[in-house]
Parts: sequence; C-alpha cells; structure tokens
Amino acid sequence: MTAHKVAIVTAAAGAGIGAAIARRLADDGLDVVITDAHERRAGEFAEALASEHGRHFASAQLDVTDANAVAEVMDRVAAERGGIHVLVNNAGWSKIEPVAEMDLETWRRCLDVDLNGTFYCMRFALPHMITAGRGAIVNISSIAAWEMTAEHGAAYSAAKAGVMALTRVAAAENGRHGIRVNAVAPGLIYNDFLKKIYPPEFFSGYVENRSVVGRVGHPDDVASLVSFLVGPQSGYITGEVYGVSGGVHPHA
Ligand SMILES: NC(=O)c1ccc[n+]([C@@H]2O[C@H](COP(=O)([O-])OP(=O)(O)OC[C@H]3O[C@@H](n4cnc5c(N)ncnc54)[C@H](O)[C@@H]3O)[C@@H](O)[C@H]2O)c1
Repeated sequence: MTAHKVAIVTAAAGAGIGAAIARRLADDGLDVVITDAHERRAGEFAEALASEHGRHFASAQLDVTDANAVAEVMDRVAAERGGIHVLVNNAGWSKIEPVAEMDLETWRRCLDVDLNGTFYCMRFALPHMITAGRGAIVNISSIAAWEMTAEHGAAYSAAKAGVMALTRVAAAENGRHGIRVNAVAPGLIYNDFLKKIYPPEFFSGYVENRSVVGRVGHPDDVASLVSFLVGPQSGYITGEVYGVSGGVHPHA
C-alpha cells in the first residue's frame, strides 16, 4: 500500500480494536481519518497519531447510526483528501438480554449500530470507490455470529451475522469495480473498558477453557489481519470472513 491512500476507520477513538487498526494503518503509511461518535476523543487521538508519525491526521465526529451524517462525512473526506480507498467498519454495540425478555430498544439499538451503521458507511463510501475503480473494505463482525451460545446476546449475534452476509453480497457486486470486501470475526479481544464490565474470572476462564493459544486476544491481533486485508498482498481475497479467536472458533 503506497502512501496517500485514504482510510476511514469508524469508532477509532476507543480503547480497543478501532484505535489499534487506525494506528496500524497509519504505520502502513495510509492517510487515516479518525472517526468516532465521541468528537473530543477522535480529535485527541488524531493529534496523538500526528505526533507519533510526524504528519497530520484528520478526525471527524461520526455516529454511524446517523445515515445523513455518514453521507456527509464520506463526501467531505473524499472531496478534501482525494478519495476513499479503505473503509474499516469497526463500530459495534451490544447488550446481553435473553430473547424472551429483551427490551425492544436493545434489539433496535444493536441492529442500528452493528448492522445498519455498517451498511450506511458502505452505502456512502462505495460510490467514491467505484468512481476511483479501486477500494478495500473490512467489516468487523464477531465469532458471536457463528457460536450457539447465549453468551453474546441474540441481537448482537444476529447483527454480526448480518454483517457477514452484507460483506459477501457487497463483495460480489463490487469485485469488478476493483473493490474487495472482507470481514473479520474476533473472539475475546481484551481492552481496559471490558475490564470494567467483566470480572477477572471471565478472562481467566476464557484463557483456561477456551483459547487454545493460552491467552486472550489483543487489539493488535485484529489490526494485523486488517492491515493485510486492505493491502496489496491480499488482492485475490474477497467475500471472506476470517476468525481471530485464538482457536476458540476455527472456521473453514
Ligand atoms: N472486544 C471484543 O472482545 C470484541 C470481540 C468481537 C468483536 N468485537 C467487535 O469489534 C469492534 C470494536 O470493539 P472494541 O470492543 O474493540 O471497541 P473499540 O474500542 O474499538 O470501540 C469503542 C468506540 O466505539 C465508539 N462508538 C460506539 N458507538 C458508536 C457509534 N454508534 N458510532 C460511532 N462510534 C461509536 C465509542 O465512542 C468508542 O470510542 C466492535 O464492532 C465489536 O463488536 C469486539
């Protein structure tokens, strides 16, 4: 991937996967636009990346559930930075409630952030990629879409399964435009925010009983794969979903 390719990463200013992907793509030489629902943190992270790399990074406040805002940001980035070559749909949200008791707002919110948000970003970035005749999209799904367990909550599992299907259809539609679309399905990827939600036994149980490599995942584990999937060495790969789960859910 040469310099001056423009990459948009959603939910890039958090404590986990999105920020690791943004930093990795910046390391790869891309012109990464940091977007996040949280405007101040997006700006601060873009500034931190700028001081690490000695070049400017743009930021934009973007809640992916706001289709009008998504359209505006995609058009603005394409106009100001010379196109959109890479899109990483990282924004996700979940709340674990059993189907029989689920608050309808939980279902709607989860589908809205995880599935609709991914669709909106693709819907409004793809025309710019089609015009340019090239592009790479990676959607962050989850092994929750594959597993038969109540652990993730039905709304999240269904939304992430939808992301996989959306990935495959968009890949089929856009391959001949020079655009590849893939998805990544992480297992448990540790970040400091999750530490506040889950007790320590949750993580140790995962390491002892589930991960065959004896550790939880790190955001960089996902970022490395995304870097490969948007780069030139994966030019023959599209419509795929890759697990990154320490062997918890191998998928073929
Ligand atoms: N952490 C895990 O164990 C894990 C496992 C499988 C899949 N995933 C998926 O990976 C992605 C990143 O998860 P993470 O836990 O690393 O979090 P993260 O730190 O990458 O993301 C958190 C950020 O998301 C932003 N955000 C929340 N709602 C938003 C919205 N509507 N629009 C834009 N930004 C929004 C927040 O402001 C915050 O900065 C999600 O799609 C998640 O479902 C995570």
